[in-house]
Formats: sequence, structure tokens, C-alpha cells
Amino acid sequence: METINWDNLGFAYRKTATILRCTYKDGAWGEVESLTDDNIAISSFAGCLHYSIECFEGLKAFRGKDGKVRIFRPEENARRLQSSAASLFIPAPSEELFISMCRRLVKENIDYLPPYGHNASLYIRPTLIGSNPQLGVKSSNEVVLYMLCSPVGAYVGGTLQPCNAVIARNHDRAATYGTGRFKVGGNYAASLYALNIAHQQGYSAVLHLDPAEHRFIDEFNSSNFFGIKGNTYITPKSDSILPSITNKSLITVAEHLGMTVERRQVPVEEMDTFEEVGECGTAVVITPVSYIDDKTRLEDKDITKRYSFYSDTECGPKSLRLYRMITGIQYGEIEDPFGWCTFVEE
Ligand code: PLP
Ligand code: COI
Repeated sequence: METINWDNLGFAYRKTATILRCTYKDGAWGEVESLTDDNIAISSFAGCLHYSIECFEGLKAFRGKDGKVRIFRPEENARRLQSSAASLFIPAPSEELFISMCRRLVKENIDYLPPYGHNASLYIRPTLIGSNPQLGVKSSNEVVLYMLCSPVGAYVGGTLQPCNAVIARNHDRAATYGTGRFKVGGNYAASLYALNIAHQQGYSAVLHLDPAEHRFIDEFNSSNFFGIKGNTYITPKSDSILPSITNKSLITVAEHLGMTVERRQVPVEEMDTFEEVGECGTAVVITPVSYIDDKTRLEDKDITKRYSFYSDTECGPKSLRLYRMITGIQYGEIEDPFGWCTFVEE
């Protein structure tokens, strides 16, 4: 095995020891197989390749300060995968199958689990694809669940390093009554055009608004949005955003820390009153946002308005408190009062 520098891992593909595969065929799930080659053979007529009959998950395993291995809230990811699969009318694994595959994947790739103390973790990517050959547009009756993993550090920049974002009013990632609340691959394809233009202009993320009226904040291209006003944690309520497990956890943590939580429609202009703004999600954890530009047309130079938050270089104190508690639970640095961690025996 190659020597890995656990610092500055970023969020990138790295081959690990194994991937797992479980196939659903003729109405039943087969045996879980362990494969050392991450290249897969699939019919070129598989529905996932043509009609994006695909959904996925993202969760992390951590090496704790106490040496124990924890997976964060895998049952939540299992349920969300079931909800995404239902939106595509394809079979989904049971919670038991999902969690047992997560455990086995971590065990088989334990050498790739970053040691404690590097702000790094093993990212687990369950992927459910429609696999039977087909030509017409219809839901797959055979699916394959792959479980992949990769050691990761910060998603963008460094840990807790503020990023920036742009509101692209002329590009939506999801429709009002569309698939935004599911973790289906098509949503990410739909976000790529705006994301690429944003990257070309020096922004790290796109902040999407509600697609019906473009009045309210929805979410970032790969994370949820939160704002802090005084002692209040504010996060959008919308049917076109992904129900983030990190955000759900932060809401619990914020309440636990005595903050008020508001989950409601958030008008764009309200950002003027936020002292801190952050992205939250499995990959980004909490990433503070230093400013967000509002643009009528993303492709143009003109900025309608810039919303600036706590600092260009540092994470705000409230976001930092939330970050410390959630990562403290994940790395076993503090007691887990909510029972969120699933332990993996080595
Ligand atoms: N929103 C989008 C569009 C995402 O891709 C993600 C990442 O999973 C999130 C939000 C955050 O969700 P979670 O905290 O469950 O990872
Ligand atoms: C995650 O945070 O787990 C995600 O899936 C976001 C992104 C990498 C697609």
C-alpha cells in the first residue's frame, strides 16, 4: 500500500483495497461481494447510463481520539437512499443490509481510515444504479448497490477556511415540484453548468434560490445553507432541497447549546442581517462563507449585490461552536448525548 499523507487529502478519488457489490435480481438481493478492482462491467444498455436511474449517499467513518471507529448516523443515510430509490421506482436495500455493508467496507479498508488528529475521515459512497439492459424509458427491475470509499479531508480549501458563493438567478438546479429533495445523480448533472461558470469566476459554490419565485434561499450546489443571527440558527425549509443529515444534526446541536432554531422560508435579502453564514453537509462539514454575490445573469460581470459575513479568513464563533460539538462527537472527543455513532469492531 502506498504511503498516504493524511494532511491536505482534499476530496478526491483514491483507490482503496476493496469496493462492495450487491445485486438485486428476480425480486431479491444476492450475496454481498468484495472486489479489489473498482472498474465494473455493466451492460451499455443499463438504464443508469441513459436515463440517470441512479441515486447515492455520502457518509463518513472516523477514527476517534479513543481509538474506536465510528460511522456517523448510517441509518439516516439508509432511509434517505430508500426515499431516493422510491422516487425512481427502483428497489432499495434494507437498513440492515445498508449498515452491514458500511461496516464491512470500513473493516476491509481500515488501512485507508485516516488516523485521529488530521481532520480527515473515510468517506463512504453508496451508489444504487439501474443495471438491466433496456431501451425505453422505464424504471429498472435490476439494480446494483455499490459501496465505495475514499479517505478525505476538507472539501474546499482547508478545514474551516471560509469560501464564497454566487447566486445564479438564471440557473436552477431543481424544479419546484421536481427531484431536489432526493439524492439522485441527475440533480448534480443539472447543477454542473452553473457550477463551472461560477468556478471560472472564482467562486467555490453556487447558492440556489427557490425555483418558483427566486425569492427564498434553497441550498448550495452540494450542501445546505444556514445563517446565524444573534443566538438563532436559521435554515431554509423548502421541498426542493436535500434534507441534509448534517443540518438535521446541527439543529439538534444548536438547541442543545441553547440556541433558537428557525427552519422556515428565508428571503434572500435577510442575508443582510446574518452575522455568520455557512455551508453544511457531510463533505463540507461546516464551511464558513465569507461573502455571497447576487447576480441576475451568472454569465455577466455585473453583481447586483454582495452580502458579506463574519470574516474572509476565519470561522465565526457560533459556527465554530457548532462545528466543535458535531466533530467532537464524530471523533469521540466528547460524549455523544444523541446516540449518533455506530461503532465498527476491528
Ligand atoms: N445538499 C446537497 C445538494 C448535497 O449534495 C448534500 C450532500 O450530501 C447536502 C445538502 C448535505 O447533506 P448531508 O448532510 O446529508 O450530507
Ligand atoms: C456529501 O456531502 O456527502 C455529498 O454528497 C456532497 C457532494 C460531494 C456531492
